[in-house]
Amino acid sequence: MEVSQLLDNNRFWADSLNARDPAFFQRLAAQQHPEFLWIGCSDSRVPANEVVGLMPGELFVHRNVANMVVATDMNLLSVLQYAVDVLQVRHIIVCGHYGCGGVRAALGRQELGLIDNWLRSLKGLYHQHRDRFQALEPDAQVDLLCELNVERQVRNVCHTTLVQNAWHRGQPLAVHGWIYGLQDGHIKDLGVSVSDSRQIDSTFQYDRYEAFGE
Ligand code: CO
Repeated sequence: MEVSQLLDNNRFWADSLNARDPAFFQRLAAQQHPEFLWIGCSDSRVPANEVVGLMPGELFVHRNVANMVVATDMNLLSVLQYAVDVLQVRHIIVCGHYGCGGVRAALGRQELGLIDNWLRSLKGLYHQHRDRFQALEPDAQVDLLCELNVERQVRNVCHTTLVQNAWHRGQPLAVHGWIYGLQDGHIKDLGVSVSDSRQIDSTFQYDRYEAFGE
């Protein structure tokens, strides 16, 4: 496929949307009011809006390799702050997927370069739960680590001061862990939703923030 095909596709897409709803783009250009923040994998097979049937303007999106939530990642934190403080999304969805290449790489021993550092914490997660992996076939091991990773990243979202301060303010905000199946396109809710700081381990709870001197 030539890259010019993408621009042709874009004109067709915009014209079709415009034909159905002539005010659509004008409305969107004025402001966005998404209720959801999506934190997903960069994998081309998991396009955020499409798999949950949402239109432009309805989903704020952050994607990286293996849907990681790293407390020192300025990119993720900036997206999270804008979503929570400014857009005031009601739900944050961490959505992993089975068969994730990043997770598979972390289970292997081959050195791949820079990405090894990005994926390092996945090795720690495997090590922490290694007894559960012993009896599993390689693909099942990848899928188990994919699920454990989503659960871990949900907690990482909840452990940020950004999210805990929103809860302290009384802002309604729930964090969910989902996983997408490449084989059938279905999303499974892992049942690890958190909507209150009292649901997280006390080690990671912060008291209500008060600025120095107040
Ligand atoms: Co992936």
